[in-house]
Amino acid sequence: MTDATQNPFRSGMLMEHPADACVLIIFGGTGDLAQRKLFPSLAHLVREGRLSEQTQFLCVSRKDLDQNAFRDEVLKNARALAPGSIPDEEFASKFANRIFTVTDAAENGKFDKLRWRLGEMAGAGGPKNHLIYLSIPPTGYAPTIAALGAVGLAEPEPGAWSRIIIEKPFGRDYDSAEALNSSAAAVFREDQIYRIDHYLGKETVQNILVLRLANTLFEPIWNHHYVDHVAITASEALGVEERAQYYEESGALRDMIQNHLMQILAMVAMERPASLAAEAIRDEKRKVLESVRPFTEQDVPNVAVRAQYAAGAVAGKAVVGYLDERGIKPNSRTETYAALKLHIDNWRWSGVPFYLRTGKRLAKRVTEVAIVFRKVPHMVFAQSPVDRLEQNVLAIRIQPNEGISLKFEAKLPGHALHVRPVEMDFRYGTSFGGRLSDAYERLLLDAMIGDQTLFARRDSVEEGWRIVQPVLNAWANDKSDPLPQYVAGSWGPSEADVLLAAHNHRWRKL
Ligand SMILES: NC(=O)c1ccc[n+]([C@@H]2O[C@H](COP(=O)([O-])OP(=O)(O)OC[C@H]3O[C@@H](n4cnc5c(N)ncnc54)[C@H](OP(=O)(O)O)[C@@H]3O)[C@@H](O)[C@H]2O)c1
Repeated sequence: MTDATQNPFRSGMLMEHPADACVLIIFGGTGDLAQRKLFPSLAHLVREGRLSEQTQFLCVSRKDLDQNAFRDEVLKNARALAPGSIPDEEFASKFANRIFTVTDAAENGKFDKLRWRLGEMAGAGGPKNHLIYLSIPPTGYAPTIAALGAVGLAEPEPGAWSRIIIEKPFGRDYDSAEALNSSAAAVFREDQIYRIDHYLGKETVQNILVLRLANTLFEPIWNHHYVDHVAITASEALGVEERAQYYEESGALRDMIQNHLMQILAMVAMERPASLAAEAIRDEKRKVLESVRPFTEQDVPNVAVRAQYAAGAVAGKAVVGYLDERGIKPNSRTETYAALKLHIDNWRWSGVPFYLRTGKRLAKRVTEVAIVFRKVPHMVFAQSPVDRLEQNVLAIRIQPNEGISLKFEAKLPGHALHVRPVEMDFRYGTSFGGRLSDAYERLLLDAMIGDQTLFARRDSVEEGWRIVQPVLNAWANDKSDPLPQYVAGSWGPSEADVLLAAHNHRWRKL
């Protein structure tokens, strides 16, 4: 068995320790996520020789499924949605031959069929390690986990391992997340459970720690002495598209802030871990989330903003408002925009606000962490007084145009001494070239290797919910009508500007 826990960022480790051979058992292999992300990621991994030759993929489905037709469907979708993942016919047939199905087996009471199928595959020389992927609607998580336990699939055979990957959303509030964690813990040990937050698989999110810990430059100024505030943005230009039913139940706070943005915040704000072991990093993430200052329902109007998009135009194209989208209730109170102001009560971050914002139908798609530094205390250049100086900003672009830029002041050419901001820009694409692998590739591989660093541990998921729970409660109890609106294609509601103006801050123009 591979033990990767001592080297989470695995510099060079992939080559030294290839992933163990396993059967990847995908529940929901017929669904959107599996077809759009999982199978194309597996194709890339196979193509690049990252998986063991013996690894096989088993799609467990409730409905009847013809194995050959399913293989064709996977190939068709991978070709259409992930160009380059299936380079030629020879590869297509090799990849497809590793895909198997077991049908009418994904419901309670029918798991013996799955167990029998796995036994059959092992009998034919297939791997005994099992990586189970729950890519099914969240209502199916707890019953599926219990049924897996009942047929003994959480218990590996001697010398083998059994792990489970659970998709987001992980609960819809603190209590449901805690209940789901308890159901999972009744069947699997924590070291078998891989809670996916695909943001953690993005190169640029992993690079946050490298930036901080592999350079002498940044860590000494990564604290309240130098940092004025931190703003984390995840904006989308798209609306709800085909996911109206899911989104109505979720909303922006649950969909993005509690999980993705909270995990990014933890990477940005955590203390230096004692080592790069998975648990050391996850301990620090838990500690920093525990240090987020709690607030009450009464505080919510001062720390959180929600809104819905109204009709407008995105990239020059007219779009309807949220309430007029297909599948959305005309009186829906689901927020499509959420912003949150947090404080971290520890020595490093005392007094530094952390702003988180996310929304649909905003001006453009961008995810970025902006570390905004304090102004200089005194300005000697009389023609450029301090109050007209812009602040230094270190911007970590998570997507698109992955990279990092640093904004600082420079002298404008000419005889007079005028100061203007300039930007130094690093882009992954131009500096390193090549293809940036999809987050799912990285995370699937890590789960096969047994590296939990980039997966959310139980405590950090529950801390994330603890932080946002008063907001969920306050918004559920607030019946004021209508919700604040923002024009589609804008940067969100004016209420979000007011949230920052209280500290003389402004959202960055992106
Ligand atoms: N789609 C995305 O982009 C995305 C992104 C992030 C997270 N996720 C999460 O990933 C999971 C899968 O998403 P998805 O969009 O692929 O979902 P989906 O297309 O609605 O469903 C996936 C598959 O799950 C099976 N299924 C449906 N209801 C089930 C139930 N009650 N119990 C067991 N199996 C059931 C169906 O397969 P069979 O009929 O063949 O059994 C279906 O094809 C969800 O939890 C979602 O929140 C999705």
